[in-house]
Amino acid sequence: MLDPGRELKFAVKAAKEAGKILLNGLEQKLQIEYKGVIDLVTDIDRESQGCILTILKEEFPNHKFIAEEGADLDLLNSEKVWLIDPLDGTTNYAHGYRCFCISIAYSEGGILKAGVIYDPCADELYSAEKDKGAYLNGRKLNVSRTDELNRSLLITGFPYDIRESQVNNLGLFNHIIMKAQAVRRDGSAALDLAYLAAGRFDGFWELKLHPWDIAAGAIIVEEAGGTVTNFSGGRMGLDAFEVLATNGRIHDALLSEISSVPRDKW
Ligand code: IPD
Ligand code: CA
Ligand code: CA
Repeated sequence: MLDPGRELKFAVKAAKEAGKILLNGLEQKLQIEYKGVIDLVTDIDRESQGCILTILKEEFPNHKFIAEEGADLDLLNSEKVWLIDPLDGTTNYAHGYRCFCISIAYSEGGILKAGVIYDPCADELYSAEKDKGAYLNGRKLNVSRTDELNRSLLITGFPYDIRESQVNNLGLFNHIIMKAQAVRRDGSAALDLAYLAAGRFDGFWELKLHPWDIAAGAIIVEEAGGTVTNFSGGRMGLDAFEVLATNGRIHDALLSEISSVPRDKW
């Protein structure tokens, strides 16, 4: 692995410190608040966020920060901006289901420059820097080589407004599950993308995600040789409504399946 840049170095430090908080919190009684009917936040989300922001703000006092708990999305177009999910997979976390992570990305001039995803339970740290490849605990990552949808293991997720909105991914899920080898739903979009970069999944799609859910995963997948677009095959903006990420080989096939489902039936 090449010498990491300063941003990556401190993103790793922040993610590892936050990881300790998440592991400790698993042993405690959590304080849970509801942001929506099924959308919860715990005291540990906030503690993890505080820890990450303290480390990064001290090192980069002139940068902007968008962190999930109290995010200011107007900062998205800032020249130097960090996108932070202090606990991705909060529902899993609150149930003690050990599938969650910390996701931290750095973007400069609208281009993702560095990303870190840390799974503290497995002690797996995924990282990437622009044009320098993606790594898992220092070992170079490559996406899978599966080239048939029929043989592909896919992963997806469902938005928190699944009960209120018709556009809730159930239409796409029903369609795509019949075309793939299998489809999983694990509850942490960032970790889903990290697994894709590691070749454990062949493709991922989801609707209504936020920049902090996908930014680190997007650069890690691309640097591992994968493809990340919107559902039309165009560039995925960080404020993406739709994200399709694959090993590249099944991208067109998945785009074509998505396009066969009318948008109002997604
Ligand atoms: C959620 C997870 C989940 C995805 C949701 C996200 P959170 O993030 O990534 O997999 O389906 O849409 O909001 O709330 O656990 O940080
Ligand atoms: Ca999230
Ligand atoms: Ca979160």
